[in-house]
Amino acid sequence: MALRPYIVGNWKMNGSRAMLAEARAIDRAAARYPAVEVGLVPPAPLINLMAEAVSDIAVGAQDCHTAPSGAFTGDVSAATLADAGASFAIVGHSERRAKAGHGEKDAVVRAKAEAALAADLAVILCVGETEAERDAGKAEAVVAAQLKASLPRTEGAAVRLAVAYEPVWAIGTGRVPAVADVAAMHGAIRAGLLAAYGEDGAGVRILYGGSVNAGNAAELLGADEVAGALVGGASLTAESFAAIISAAAMVAEEG
Ligand code: PGA
Repeated sequence: MALRPYIVGNWKMNGSRAMLAEARAIDRAAARYPAVEVGLVPPAPLINLMAEAVSDIAVGAQDCHTAPSGAFTGDVSAATLADAGASFAIVGHSERRAKAGHGEKDAVVRAKAEAALAADLAVILCVGETEAERDAGKAEAVVAAQLKASLPRTEGAAVRLAVAYEPVWAIGTGRVPAVADVAAMHGAIRAGLLAAYGEDGAGVRILYGGSVNAGNAAELLGADEVAGALVGGASLTAESFAAIISAAAMVAEEG
């Protein structure tokens, strides 16, 4: 892991003011591992409270709108998220790309990434194949196409970007791909980043996401081109998330 490890917890549609106690405990744990960059991503109404409650971790948003402001009832702009204390936004999560979610296509994901960058938020762009696509031998082609079509093309985008590879079938299922498959996909993503951004593409961190937990984190984080993890379920408590942060610190030290 040559790049600084980046461990991000996505609380999805979970959280409450009472759960800010977990965020504070995660913040204290993160402070013990300065080699690791840590982010936590609560539902939007908690961003401001969480940002005020922590000091060693960054707080992010799970989504943003494509427009800077306007008549979009129920949506939140990147500028408002930044004003609330977010320093980055996740875009293109498979739960938003899914038809049963928000049906977001690559072009919308790209526009969201560019809107986030325009509001000075860093971006975590998610890509990943379904189980049917992997079974059909199309995983790398699907992910390469998603990446190419959803990468932000804003000037200097690569500097404020991370990509998360999250196989849809591994999210929330307890199943993870073989480490060799993760390494192969991360290598393909790196090639796509170099093609899109030239040399700057070498500095973009590629995270793995999908059923990361304290038991499998070290192995996954040790794979080639894996510079961190996007963690769902295991980020909801400080106990399980701190174990992943500590695994990342250990792998960084060994590497
Ligand atoms: P999970 O979610 O860790 O609960 O599988 C990962 C994600 O969706 O980012």
